[in-house]
Amino acid sequence: MPSAFQSAPSSIGIDFGTTNSSVARAIAPNRVELVRFSNDSFSSRSLLYLEKHASRIQSFSGPEAIAQYLAAHAEGDRPGRLIQSLKSYLPSKTLSGTEVFGRRYTLEDLISRILKDLRLRAEKQFGQPVLHATVGRPVRFVGAETEEDEAYALTRLRAAFVQAGFESVEFEYEPVAAAYAYQATLDREETILIGDFGGGTSDFSILQVGGARPTKVIATAGLGLAGDAFDAKIVRHLVSPALGSDSQARGLNKLLPAVPAWIYANLERWHYLSFLKTRNVLEILTSAQKRGLEPEKIEALQSVIDEDLGYPLHQAVQRTKIDLSRSEAAVFQFGGPQLGRSFSTVDIGPIPVTRAQFEDWIAPELEQIAETVDGLLTSTGVAAQAIDRVFLTGGTSFVPAVRAIFASRFGEDRVVAGDEFTSVAQGLALRSV
Ligand SMILES: Nc1ncnc2c1ncn2[C@@H]1O[C@H](COP(=O)(O)OP(=O)(O)OP(=O)(O)O)[C@@H](O)[C@H]1O
Ligand SMILES: [Mg+2]
Repeated sequence: MPSAFQSAPSSIGIDFGTTNSSVARAIAPNRVELVRFSNDSFSSRSLLYLEKHASRIQSFSGPEAIAQYLAAHAEGDRPGRLIQSLKSYLPSKTLSGTEVFGRRYTLEDLISRILKDLRLRAEKQFGQPVLHATVGRPVRFVGAETEEDEAYALTRLRAAFVQAGFESVEFEYEPVAAAYAYQATLDREETILIGDFGGGTSDFSILQVGGARPTKVIATAGLGLAGDAFDAKIVRHLVSPALGSDSQARGLNKLLPAVPAWIYANLERWHYLSFLKTRNVLEILTSAQKRGLEPEKIEALQSVIDEDLGYPLHQAVQRTKIDLSRSEAAVFQFGGPQLGRSFSTVDIGPIPVTRAQFEDWIAPELEQIAETVDGLLTSTGVAAQAIDRVFLTGGTSFVPAVRAIFASRFGEDRVVAGDEFTSVAQGLALRSV
């Protein structure tokens, strides 16, 4: 056994995110080392790709899952299934698992495969077994309505960690973890508000940090919506119309929607797309193409479903969203030659879109975020002026309208941001010592 394995086990922090995961260990007071993944990044997509080889089913996660999926699609009909946003299903009692290639997988089975790969990657880099971890949890899981739902989600997440080979797991709220990371940069005491905006959830905490005192958590709050909900709005307003959501078909003596709305609702949660690959949907779409006034749009929808284009479609949606974080206007485009040989039947766009339009589409979500922040301040009796600093993190904190919620309440100069994809893992590592 290498000598490094005999030293004390590392304190490891794991942020298993809805979209991205990262892992870190504490190496000195206020210093961490992040795990580097094969794509040379410190965060890894929380994706799982299952592929059938003869009677064996092989799984890949993170950058390997993407590479494998793309290779399979370039080749044509290699059977595989790409799954993402698994964390969002944790509180759902109706979603206990799924069948892939005729084999039943529980949600814990699927998540544990991603977690095991994270553990092995960390062991390789740190040269030590990784058996204990401090793990992030949202304040409120996506879709959790009661305390019981929260407890159920947590039990399942813990079970997935055990299945992935961890002996012990300690949970910490993700926005509290982010505060540990922010605190490491401070040399004075501050009352801070953390906003962590991810793919699935938006999480908040008010804490006292820095100075000689350890972090004191004053309050936390959470909301089960974030970047995925913004993507859904882009699908609704931009992608679905190009795939026939506004199209009509000839009925007996009147015009009717060509395709029922529930099919587009599944498209909005792109990870539900695979649920549309059924005979029933195929029959609906075949008939809609015959009776529809815009059959080419329905045909494109059919191709998106048949060819499993959920992942590249979602990537195109995210690209547009990210462009709109940087610029006032962007162009959505999907399909054609950019997708390679087997993707060539779908060609949407270019469709111009402005940041103002996007902000209009996500206005209800922005409103809910603002209400949660105001509710947190009211419930704790902390006045906005008493907050020394607001620290925003998570990928969705790049959205200017999200940042504006804080700038308008606390002033631009009190709002800081950083380490969007790694602050939670860094903080968890510091918290674990
Ligand atoms: N520049 C950007 N502008 C807008 N959104 C972005 C940008 N970069 C990333 N995102 C979005 O951020 C989200 C991912 O952020 P992050 O990695 O912090 O989430 P997560 O930790 O996986 O999710 P959660 O914390 O909800 O479990 C995605 O919805 C992604 O589309
Ligand atoms: Mg996160």
